[in-house]
Amino acid sequence: MKYDIGDIKLAAEGKFRIEWASRQMPVLKLIQERFSKEKPFKGMRISGCLHITSETANLAYALKAGGADLVLCASNPLSTQDDVAASLVKSGFPMFCIKGEDNKTYYSHIMAALDHKPQLTIDDGADLVSTIHQERTGLLRDVIGGTEETTTGVIRLKNMARAKKLKYPVIAVNDAKTKHFFDNHYGTGQSTIDGITRATNILWSGNVVVVAGYGYCGRGVARRAHGMGARVIVCEIDPISALEAAMDGFQVMPLMHAAALGDVFITLTGNRHVIDRAHFARMKNGAILANSGHFNVEINIPALERMATAKRRTRRLVDEYELAGGKRIYLLGEGRLINLAAAEGHPASVMDMSFANQALGLEYLVKNKGRLKPDVYPVPLETDNEVGLLKLKSMDIVIDKLTREQQKYLGSWEEGT
Ligand code: ADE
Repeated sequence: MKYDIGDIKLAAEGKFRIEWASRQMPVLKLIQERFSKEKPFKGMRISGCLHITSETANLAYALKAGGADLVLCASNPLSTQDDVAASLVKSGFPMFCIKGEDNKTYYSHIMAALDHKPQLTIDDGADLVSTIHQERTGLLRDVIGGTEETTTGVIRLKNMARAKKLKYPVIAVNDAKTKHFFDNHYGTGQSTIDGITRATNILWSGNVVVVAGYGYCGRGVARRAHGMGARVIVCEIDPISALEAAMDGFQVMPLMHAAALGDVFITLTGNRHVIDRAHFARMKNGAILANSGHFNVEINIPALERMATAKRRTRRLVDEYELAGGKRIYLLGEGRLINLAAAEGHPASVMDMSFANQALGLEYLVKNKGRLKPDVYPVPLETDNEVGLLKLKSMDIVIDKLTREQQKYLGSWEEGT
């Protein structure tokens, strides 16, 4: 079996962490139990490009229980948990991922995962789909469909579909309510604060935190930073999101103004060069910059490199840039998603729902083989609701049901008062 990982000796440690995560993933566990009886993926080749974490390992086990022949590569050069990768290799999964790999290795790992000739693809950021469509078009013949985990990936795929370049159906897992309401909001919210804390050990209380982007992820981060006692400023380009931030009680202003006020800057916009030269120039001495968006493009790092008169690594994952005049700016995790670079990513309890949607989305693609034309599809609403109900059940929460009378009323129009 081929693989390329950081250190196989870490396998025992990884196994414990995978088991620990599994305790918080009851919905995925139920799906795994059903898959092991029904074998929906019997003999099917699946290539997954995902953050290689203890939660992803549990998804891998669920798919394997369903009969899948699964290969995994990393969806980000800094997000791999090397102990988990080692444990998965010991469990028989070909793995291509090393924490800290350079861009060349990252893409060679994607190629290695594609050498598996997948019939199904799993993506987090759409690098696998994009590579197949641009460099490995011969593989398209065999692909039934794919799933996509994240907001950035779904945007890329919708752009591909609009340009008529997408050649197979993809399920937008991110757009399921049981995914982005929880994973993006609570998962990114908590793990971003966790990553910055682990990297810097700052006290949040009293610090001015500037959050760029008030989507589901940005909201989660802003609210959690506020909860830690930070004074939070939100920067947005969307008028409605900006209004929401203002009515949620945050200060809202252009980034150029916030640049002079912030102690910590966090980008979660999905766009490039959101923090740029002019912002660096206005920042306070000691400003800390972190990104929690999918790609490392949100902070213009090449511009920061050019502006710097000196650079040194001051702590693990903290680079100090000295600018003319002696001001120092600290960039965390090389501008890569800080929640996975410096912490452990979203907690297992939310990944439980995200990966339940992944598993069921893949099963849906197999069941509908040949019936879906190339496009981006939502997770079926019944699946989304089922995941929500199962999660509630696992939390021992029981909810009310509509009475017959109420069902009738909701389906009617005649009665007003
Ligand atoms: N994306 C964010 N957090 C994650 C995690 N813990 N596992 C896999 N993908 C993630």
